[in-house]
Amino acid sequence: MIYDGHTRTCGLIGNPVEHTMSPLIQNFMAQETGKNMVYVPFHVQQGSLEAAVKGAYALNLLGCNVTVPYKSDVMEYLVDTDPLAKRIGAVNTLVRVEGGYKGYNTDMPGLYRAMQHDGVDIAGKTVVILGAGGVARAVAVLLNDKGAKGVILFNRTVSKAQQIADEVNGYAGADFAKAYAMEDYAKVLTEDKYIVIQATSVGMHPKVDEVVIEDEAFYDKVEVGYDLIFNPPCTRFMQLVKEHGGRAYNGAKMLVYQGVIAFELWNDVNISREIAEECIRQMEEAMK
Ligand code: ATR
Repeated sequence: MIYDGHTRTCGLIGNPVEHTMSPLIQNFMAQETGKNMVYVPFHVQQGSLEAAVKGAYALNLLGCNVTVPYKSDVMEYLVDTDPLAKRIGAVNTLVRVEGGYKGYNTDMPGLYRAMQHDGVDIAGKTVVILGAGGVARAVAVLLNDKGAKGVILFNRTVSKAQQIADEVNGYAGADFAKAYAMEDYAKVLTEDKYIVIQATSVGMHPKVDEVVIEDEAFYDKVEVGYDLIFNPPCTRFMQLVKEHGGRAYNGAKMLVYQGVIAFELWNDVNISREIAEECIRQMEEAMK
């Protein structure tokens, strides 16, 4: 790619940012679509977030991604926020508009697009979520937004799962989300098979032998298992799902598709499935 006077810049705001895969993915998409855009990491120190967002606008940046620890804090410096991002309470993508940036959440639509490409249909289904952290909460909001019948949240600390359920039920209707302790799954899961989303940090590198539910009987209930962890590429959760006849996917696709959707918002193009899949391959290669 040759950069010139017309090159537009996008970047990643976070702290730290040194581990990011986003430049690889974004610059590959720019190259493949012929967009004159470059994507770079911006390490923003604590206390400098507002200055960074204003500075980005002043420097005519086309857009930014936002990562840890700024996904919630950034919301107060935006001129507009997409309704889904508002509900999730986290913005990971800034799109340049008149007077500033509009905030979006592309993490969850990224997961949804990955599911669509994997042929996983959540419409009208009760989906199981393991965990009750920020990611699990966002998944519950997404599933409601995309027409799931309900969600069952299992968490070690049941009060945290209950908090998410109460919040989502506040706008979704009383019975959409239910919260239980992890060990209650045997009495709660009355249907034959479920789509299960593993949204805890258990099993993440380097503790790759850990899994949030050890009991093998649980995995007979899993038709499709999504682990939102991407390192290692095959977690113990995924192994157990596969050993019990289910399909299992990791979080790499979600990561790539959040970037794909951000790129589409910035550049007003559609990224083909082939390009997205090549991004996934490159990312997995780079992680080795
Ligand atoms: P994030 O924002 O990435 O979702 P988080 O808010 O720290 O991260 O949430 C981590 C999730 O992993 C929580 O559901 C947590 O359970 P608790 O709410 O009980 O803390 C879950 N988790 C982390 N370590 C765990 C462990 N050893 N066993 C069971 N659950 C665990």
